[in-house]
Amino acid sequence: MKRLLTVRVPATSANLGPGFDCMGLALNLWNTFELYEGDGRGFTVVSHGEGADILPTDAGHLVARTMADELAMHLPIKPRDLSYHIVCHNQVPCGSGLGSSSTAVLAGLAFAQAILDPDGYLSPAAQARILMRAFEIEGHGDNVAPALLGGLVLVVGRDNEVLARQVPLPPFKVVVCVPDFYFMTSHARAVLPSHYARADAVFNIGRAMLVVEALRNGDFGLLSRALEDRIHEPYRLPAIPGALEAKRQALAAGAAAVGLSGAGPGLIAFAEHDHEAIGEVMQVAFGGAGLRARYWVLEVSETGLQVLP
Ligand code: HSE
Repeated sequence: MKRLLTVRVPATSANLGPGFDCMGLALNLWNTFELYEGDGRGFTVVSHGEGADILPTDAGHLVARTMADELAMHLPIKPRDLSYHIVCHNQVPCGSGLGSSSTAVLAGLAFAQAILDPDGYLSPAAQARILMRAFEIEGHGDNVAPALLGGLVLVVGRDNEVLARQVPLPPFKVVVCVPDFYFMTSHARAVLPSHYARADAVFNIGRAMLVVEALRNGDFGLLSRALEDRIHEPYRLPAIPGALEAKRQALAAGAAAVGLSGAGPGLIAFAEHDHEAIGEVMQVAFGGAGLRARYWVLEVSETGLQVLP
């Protein structure tokens, strides 16, 4: 089968404490997607690595679905008449709070864009279009924007545009610990209130700005006092067995700050040193609550979605 395109997309950690739905960080853990011509019988998808035994192998796979819907929006063709073969090499754990579905949405959009506009699919205009569509599909941009652009990205939707800016960062590492716990984003969003007190909004606005300032300057002292949240973590952390204890233990082991990664169930810990020890105590804390957990020590990825040769 003829290979048409290969892209890789990084994991992301959204929210970063108080920046609910508005900021995220790209991390050096990647899902790679290869697109091949199909055999004329619809979509076939093969996954290796994370999620290989649970992900759909047909047009129901999120990359295929996104790509097919996007092509059908622009071409006089029905999704069921398309045929492509997709091979996924997944490092990002599914349902972990590390943006695995965003990697799939972006890959599907990039594949569609490459077919619709083979000469211009890498252009800034194509990138802006992919971001807009990914935002519409996900409903918020704090995973898709850093996964597309790389680094720390601030993002908001505004009428018919998405405002997204990358903030330059010094190099640092984080620890992400993911328990084996099913916590669907839709459920994690459903547990949130629909209204907040003004004091809580102010609490978050100020801290979100200070978290950006702390990360931008590598100021872990400031980060340790600014990375707090009243919008989502108070409702989500208690719903994840062991999460509050894992956070406590990580802080005791030297982490400057710990937050939910995206909607969870994973946690992200920021630390200048002792990353392995912090990962281990979080793993043990989840274990104490009866959950198996894995951890990764990851660098920030300055690059987002890449087209591979
Ligand atoms: N900002 C989103 C949330 C990220 O916390 O629900 C998850 O996709």
